[in-house]
Amino acid sequence: MRWLTAVSTDVTAAAGLTIKSVHLRRISISIMPIQKAKNNRTLSVYDNEVPGLREKITRRESLSDVSEFNDLLINADLFEIVDMIPDEVADLVIADPPYNLTKDFNGMTFRARSENEYEDYLRTWLRKVCRKLKPDGSMYLCGDWKCSSSIQRVMGEEVAILNRITWQREKGRGAKSNWKNSMEDVWFGVKDPGNYHFNVDAVKIRRRVVAPYRVGGRPKDWEETGEGNFRDTCPSNFWDDISVPFWSMPENTGHPTQKPEKLYAKLILASTKEGGLVFDPFMGSGTAPVVARKLGRRFIGVEVSEEYCLWAAKRLVNADRAPSIQGYSDGVFWERNTLALQKKKQSQNR
Ligand SMILES: C[S@@+](CC[C@H](N)C(=O)[O-])C[C@H]1O[C@@H](n2cnc3c(N)ncnc32)[C@H](O)[C@@H]1O
Repeated sequence: MRWLTAVSTDVTAAAGLTIKSVHLRRISISIMPIQKAKNNRTLSVYDNEVPGLREKITRRESLSDVSEFNDLLINADLFEIVDMIPDEVADLVIADPPYNLTKDFNGMTFRARSENEYEDYLRTWLRKVCRKLKPDGSMYLCGDWKCSSSIQRVMGEEVAILNRITWQREKGRGAKSNWKNSMEDVWFGVKDPGNYHFNVDAVKIRRRVVAPYRVGGRPKDWEETGEGNFRDTCPSNFWDDISVPFWSMPENTGHPTQKPEKLYAKLILASTKEGGLVFDPFMGSGTAPVVARKLGRRFIGVEVSEEYCLWAAKRLVNADRAPSIQGYSDGVFWERNTLALQKKKQSQNR
């Protein structure tokens, strides 16, 4: 294995990121397969794959030559290129910006700040990003408990907020002098509350029926199977069926705040039609583009780190080969720890 040294370029301090103008760092591109534990499926990008993957990435310099904003992984600082993306192209924006925490993103550190300063940071890009939405478009904006109230205030200046989804994020160590944080929020807003797409039938959850109710001896709204009784239920705004990517999951990368594919699949299926376009201004490891591709949607993703863009590009190649999304099969979402059941159902359907 060999570590390559990357030189990161200067990125606007206004973006809220502190970056040294010349910053030498190691990027985890290896020329030999990394020795991983047997079941460790974390994504690796190898040296010989880099040139091919780079061709799948659009840089700031070539963005003015792009005629169709369709299926683009853009490696750039959002603040420098957001005006180059045409207005009203996107059916859906999924934005997962740095939270109000000090966090290192591949050599670029976002620093925790006061609530007012964080809200100013949100304002520096949110209006511009919302302009990319079609008149009937929707937006999801991610946050944790600490920055959630800021998000609600600033997002409400741009779109009509319709809901706040809270999802259970079961990861991390317990805190000694505070409650362990086990949740995150996703705020849901639309440009026009009188005209937006929402397909609840596409995001039903298959749940085990605890108290099976019968009418005339027949199951009411549920299915009796050899494996148990199940009902496809409408999702609420509390999601306890999401697993955070970890090393034995094929979707896992080294990104410090990667979102689960299952989480984004719900957002995309509910709020876009097939062929719709999803815009992710803080793409990270590429979860939104990958899930969009797996579900037959188009995408534009923007990410300042080249390494993360390479991961996204490789994930897209993998998505074409293996388009399944963990926890989503048979047209429904499944509760955690039901893989054996899902497999059984798939083999019955074949
Ligand atoms: C919270 S992470 C997003 C993770 C992503 N949802 C995923 O599933 O991998 C935020 C990302 O935004 C990127 N970022 C921060 N500021 C940016 C900017 N001004 N332009 C482009 N990308 C930026 C960071 O490098 C980081 O990867």
